[in-house]
Amino acid sequence: MKLNFRATSVVVLLAGLAFSCGGGEKSAESGAEASTTTETATAEVSLEDKYKDDPVYIKGLEKVKGSDCTGCHQVDRKLIGPAYADVAAKYENTDANVAMLAQKVIAGGVGVWGEIPMAAHPNLTEEDASDMVRYILLLKK
Ligand code: HEC
Repeated sequence: MKLNFRATSVVVLLAGLAFSCGGGEKSAESGAEASTTTETATAEVSLEDKYKDDPVYIKGLEKVKGSDCTGCHQVDRKLIGPAYADVAAKYENTDANVAMLAQKVIAGGVGVWGEIPMAAHPNLTEEDASDMVRYILLLKK
């Protein structure tokens, strides 16, 4: 009886794994969908391509990747937090805005984009947070 129970949980576990693999395939499918609509895609260069050689972009992206930002933010789509492109569209790229947003990244905050709060990042230095924000504010269309 005990053995049976174990076997069942292994099956459940495998089913769970298969399910998560299915999720991966789904996102690959939507990628294929996007590439069939080439007419609109070629007319618009992606923000990543537009800025990929900019040193501000390269440095900021490196730091953003090294933190947890990508779990909540994408360049062009709202996830838990706003899309970077929307943040870039909202704020002028000034030193004052960079400093203000860097403080918000470090301290966390809520209420500008909705009711979901951004977690605090107390381990980031002001320099790192500013480099990340400069990268984000660069992503204007
Ligand atoms: C837990 C999810 C989460 C993580 C992780 C996260 N953010 Fe956010 N972020 C949010 C949410 C939610 C908001 C919107 C907050 C609001 O409405 O005031 C936000 C807002 C922002 C804004 C705009 C702030 C404003 O006042 O307009 C910037 C810039 C930003 N995030 C950068 C970052 C950076 C850089 C990182 C990584 C160090 C990061 N975020 C990590 C969820 C997250």
